[in-house]
Formats: sequence, C-alpha cells, structure tokens
Amino acid sequence: MTAVSSSAASPLTSPFQRLAALLEGVPAGREPTLSMTVGEPRHPVPDFVAPMLAANIKGFGQYPQARGTDGFRAAVAGWLGRRYGLGERIDPATMILPLNGSREGLFYAAIQARSDSRKAGRPAMLLPNPFYQTYAAAALAAGCEPIMVAAGPETGFLPDIAALPADVLARAIGCYYASPANPQGAVADRATLARLIELARAHDFLLFADECYSEIYRGVAAPAGALEVAAMTGSFDRVIVFNSLSKRSNLAGLRCGFAAGDPAFLKRWHDFRNMAAPQVPNPVQAVAVAAYADETHVIENRRLYDAKYAVAEAVLGSRFGFATPPGGFFLWLDVGAQGGGEAVTLRLWREAGLRVIPGGYLAATGADGRNPGDNYIRIALVDGLDLTREALTRLVETVG
Ligand SMILES: Cc1ncc(COP(=O)(O)O)c(C=O)c1O
Repeated sequence: MTAVSSSAASPLTSPFQRLAALLEGVPAGREPTLSMTVGEPRHPVPDFVAPMLAANIKGFGQYPQARGTDGFRAAVAGWLGRRYGLGERIDPATMILPLNGSREGLFYAAIQARSDSRKAGRPAMLLPNPFYQTYAAAALAAGCEPIMVAAGPETGFLPDIAALPADVLARAIGCYYASPANPQGAVADRATLARLIELARAHDFLLFADECYSEIYRGVAAPAGALEVAAMTGSFDRVIVFNSLSKRSNLAGLRCGFAAGDPAFLKRWHDFRNMAAPQVPNPVQAVAVAAYADETHVIENRRLYDAKYAVAEAVLGSRFGFATPPGGFFLWLDVGAQGGGEAVTLRLWREAGLRVIPGGYLAATGADGRNPGDNYIRIALVDGLDLTREALTRLVETVG
C-alpha cells in the first residue's frame, strides 16, 4: 500500500535552514570544507548570455507582459516541438507562459487549480515524497491537504499515484510529479506518464509535470515528457509542464522558465498571473530565445555530469546502494546501515568537513510513521571533477 500522509512534519521549513540548525556550533573536521548541498549548477554560463543581455539592455526599461514576448513563446514552442517530436503541435499563442523560474510557477499553479476547482470536501494536492519543498508550500498556501506519496525503492523511486485510495483521488485537484525526480534521479517512462494523465482526466485533477531536469540525463535516450504523451491522446487537457533554463543552461540566477500545455488552464492562469505573479524581464526572455536555439552547451553539460558520475562509480562502487541514476545530478545514498541521514550528515561535517543534506529533510513522515528520506543523504554533483572526487573520497573514508 502506498504510504499517504496528511501530517507532513513542518513541510514549510526549508531543508537548508534545518541543515544549518543541525550543524550550528559544530566545528568542521577538515579544511577546506566542501559543500555538496544545493542543486545549483556551477558549470559555465553559456557565452551568448552576456552579448544577448547587452543587445537587449533597453528592455530593462519596460514592464514585461505576463504572456511573454512573441519571440520567447515561439522559441519555447519550437524547442518543445524538436525535443519531444511534436512538430508544430504546441501553439505558441495559447500553450506557453513565461515563468520567473519554474519555482514560482509551481507555486502559483496550485492557487489557480484551487480557484478553478468545484470539487466538494477538502481539496487534496498529491506530491511525491521526497519532494521539492515548493510543492508543499503551494499546496498549503492554496488551502489543500498535501498528500505525500512515497517514492522509495519499492516503487522505483517514483510515486505510485494509481495506488492511492479512490477517495483521495476524488478529492485531488492537482498532482505534482517530477521526472527526472529530485533527489532520486528516477525517470518515468511513457506508459507511466500515460497512466498518470489518464488518472488526472478520470479524477478531474491537473497534472503539474515538473520537468526541470529533463535535459540532465545519462546515455542517448532523453527522458519522455508529459506533453508528448498527452499529444498521443490527441489533447493537452489537464497537463501542464514546467521547465526552466536553471539546470539545462546553468542559469539558475537568470530566473527564466516556462509552463506549457492545457490552453484553457493557461488562459485562466495568465489572467491571474497578470495581476499577481512575478514577470520575466524582456532582456531575460531574449537570452532564453538564444538558449533554446542552442543544444551545444546542453550536450557539454551532460558530458560534464557523466564524467562526475563516472567518478562516483569509481569511488563509491556499490556502497550505499549507489547506482548511477538515469536523470538529474544528485546522488541519493542509502546510509541506513551507517546510522541514517542525519547522523551521517553530522559525522561527515564533524570528521571530514563535508556538507551534505539529510534525506529526511527533503521528505515528510508518511501515514505509516516512516519518513522515506530518513535513511538517505543527498549529494549534489554540481561542482568540478576534482572537488567531486575529493568529496566522495572523504565520504568513503569517513563512513564507507
Ligand atoms: C525538482 C525541482 N523543481 C523545480 C525547481 C525550481 O527551479 P527553477 O525555479 O530554478 O526553475 C528545482 C530547483 O532546484 C527543483 O529541484
């Protein structure tokens, strides 16, 4: 039975704040200290960014429109068409909205879903567990009950939404679903996405497909996307995908992403966003036009991550249940046998000056009283190769 919980243990406390509290006053055991906590890509900012900003500098004098520039919407629709074999199925006029990074979009989407919903009873928002913290913040801000659906090894590190009780699905107004998943790096196949879309339509909830790691994958087969699967059904009804340049193009600080999909939802959401949401500066959208036209830097990114996973394979072997995940740029390591995520995090800091994040801080306690992240630590492979090797060597020397 899938673990379901409505009693998330402080899902609104940032995992990074909790980590700071855990390590407060604890001296680092080694210098220089190494931090592998935040999922902020540190590969180079692409060369075209500075000239594009410079060429469009006057645009900072204008208020951007909520619907985005025509150029931005066309660039994103074109990229989606190429990436997912959708040709011209994505209408740039009605199926794309710019986001100030996907995070704010993931947040505001819940508020729109709630205001659209006519369901009786307390609305439920489905989230994977572990989860990206914004999902929980959004669910609570929208007055929904967050339903954490365990995404551990028993379900291939993806939440089994289909196994939820019918009464929960009946109350659901939305479902956040990340593929590739953070932190586990699991990737949903087309059949899984198709089932999810079917469920969303059968039970009248929105699928919020978080695809911000879509371009960070191993091997040659790119992860499937919710839009391509929806297209096979002949409709984009109830399917909204979220993506951004943060991971794809190492532009976390640019704050530029998009939502794409169900035109009816996007129309209502645009009208709400026009009054309430942060907009994307026009010069930033111009950078995005260049970014979505270029795959060279994205291919290079994947090469750099591949090299770090090769180091992880060499240093870790099969310790901590490690196997290179198909997507994302994290290591999700089972340290249950070493005392669990919190204890190992403390030890790594105290003995090795290595900062990681306890998996339990990225998850919540389920109805079965278990937090599916408790036995894990998460390590972000965002730095260079040498630092990665040094950090993983310290990890093995300390708790291996
Ligand atoms: C799973 C997941 N979704 C969404 C985001 C938001 O990214 P951004 O707002 O930079 O697009 C992140 C950022 O770390 C993430 O890990």
